[in-house]
Amino acid sequence: MSDESAQDDVQRVREASDIVRVVGEHIELKARGREYVGLCPFHDDTKPSMYVVPAKQMYHCFSCGAGGDIFTFVQDYHSMTFREALKYLAERAGISLQSRGRRRTASDSALSVSRSVLLEANEVAQKFYRSIYRHAEHGKAARELVEQRGISPEMVEAFGIGAAPQRWDGLVVFLSSKQRTLEPYLQAGLIKARDHSTEGGFFDALRHRLVFPIRDQIGRVIAFGGRRINDEDEPKYLNSPESPVFDKSATLFGLDLASRSIQREGVAIIAEGYTDVIACHQAGITNVVATLGTALTPKHATLLRRLCHTVVLLFDGDQAGQRAADRAAEVFLTLPIDAKIATLAGFTDAKDPDELLKRPGGSETLKSAIDGATELLEYRIARLRDRLASAGAAEMERALRDEFRTLGSLGLASADKIRWQFVIRRLSELSGLNAASIADLVREGAGRARFNPRADDQPRPKPADCPAGPAEVLGCLLAAPTLWLGLEDHQRAVLEQACTGSPLHPVFEAMHAAEQATGRTELQTVIDELRRRGSDHRLAVELERDITRRLGDDPEQIGPTLKQCLAELGRSVQTIESKPKASAAERIEQIRASKVSGGTNTRLYPRPPGVLKTDDESSV
Ligand code: UTP
Ligand code: MN
Repeated sequence: MSDESAQDDVQRVREASDIVRVVGEHIELKARGREYVGLCPFHDDTKPSMYVVPAKQMYHCFSCGAGGDIFTFVQDYHSMTFREALKYLAERAGISLQSRGRRRTASDSALSVSRSVLLEANEVAQKFYRSIYRHAEHGKAARELVEQRGISPEMVEAFGIGAAPQRWDGLVVFLSSKQRTLEPYLQAGLIKARDHSTEGGFFDALRHRLVFPIRDQIGRVIAFGGRRINDEDEPKYLNSPESPVFDKSATLFGLDLASRSIQREGVAIIAEGYTDVIACHQAGITNVVATLGTALTPKHATLLRRLCHTVVLLFDGDQAGQRAADRAAEVFLTLPIDAKIATLAGFTDAKDPDELLKRPGGSETLKSAIDGATELLEYRIARLRDRLASAGAAEMERALRDEFRTLGSLGLASADKIRWQFVIRRLSELSGLNAASIADLVREGAGRARFNPRADDQPRPKPADCPAGPAEVLGCLLAAPTLWLGLEDHQRAVLEQACTGSPLHPVFEAMHAAEQATGRTELQTVIDELRRRGSDHRLAVELERDITRRLGDDPEQIGPTLKQCLAELGRSVQTIESKPKASAAERIEQIRASKVSGGTNTRLYPRPPGVLKTDDESSV
């Protein structure tokens, strides 16, 4: 609960999680010397520009500037808060956290306990369904259905397909025989209480069904979908209810198996059903996932934009495709990810991909349907033209105006600048109207919503915005941390003064504080300190990388550069210092300015005589 136990958690989770492993679970990494490289997931990367440095447990993309430690990576990749990233990595490493985070409530912590318990319950249930599937008698009907549907044994394994037995209490009896507490299974929706008012006992949620485990991106079972075996049973599919581990609107069936190939191809295909995903994978089309019987949400899109640049929404029929095109606009207009709509209807009379793939040449037909996908905006405009084929120019113009206003009301006006420009230009090409008037209509549609770049696109300090001398010095000190300990007091004072008033100052302060607290100033410790202070740490990463790329990180190598830079800094400080004619008023103003830029930090460094006096020494 204390700050210390929080730091302790961070430490333990970090020690248990190798950054190369964790990053490698999200993007493909190749060894290069002491480092690893891969395509950066945070921008549209074509040549590998992301470096992972195991010795420093950090990563950095030299192209877009993304960088940090293992927590930063998970945070940015999954759009998590620090706390969520800590929990995610702790769960992954099997570590239970001591601290509960400062701003958490009692119900949150109950939730965090049950997350791992729920995951375990799902894992136990998964083993149970699998064993039923293999059971000579209880799994027979399920295996027959699998056979009849042409699902290969490889796919049964890869997707972990199981079976729920044809009785009311198969799972309940199994759990009781293992003396398991039933509460987590109730919460996970795997079993149900017969009657709330009496001691009526429990029964299984899934009975006599083929069971598809639903897994998260890293392969943990978070829910189940059960398909009826008897056509008389209703509904056709029965899915687990949402739970602290299962957010339906943020889950894609098959993503654990598809994410690699989605990244490789840069394209994700979203089908409508479980069995369509399985059939596609079986046919070698492995970048396919499905939503869980719902429309695509912004959470899905956010998840996917980390992996690919294009999403193809693959629909069985025209109707579904049109409805989806309406809703997809809301999701995709503002995100830098392209959406395309593909419908089978124009290519085959097969009802869905699963059915199509069972026919000869089905896989080729499916591929042409996917290749023939129409970009979302084009699809919408083309549909307008179809609908108004016989109407006059004025009516078409009115319809287009409405469409642009609709796009505005769907959120296009709040897209970031680049997305905005891209979409407006595209609409102009598609409609033949000029971009400026389209932009006006879109803004009009957004009502009073003003052009409003998203918060995460706000500028952050970059090395280029910093004074070069002290940036270089901090870079050297971060690259070879032992050099910090060799600094003399007056050198530190000179450095601090040179950093004051620039984005470098928080980095300097964090280095000093890290040394005070831990006796160390490795990049990792400095990142921790900056994070604790709520400051951006990417600048520190970039400063370090800048030097390491040019000079390596051997103190022997960097030492001379550092010395030279410090000497230059010293001289420029001297120049300020030797401006002797400052009037009393000017001096007061100088001191005031130094206090303002130094913030409220009262931790002061020994200064050489003559340098600006500190708060303690002077009263203003
Ligand atoms: P479909 O009815 O198209 O099912 O529903 P399907 O995938 O073709 O199933 P098979 O081939 O008959 O076995 C598409 C998706 O909608 C959801 C499921 O996710 C399903 O895969 N769904 C459908 C439900 O959640 N519940 C239902 O009762 C039906
Ligand atoms: Mn089907």
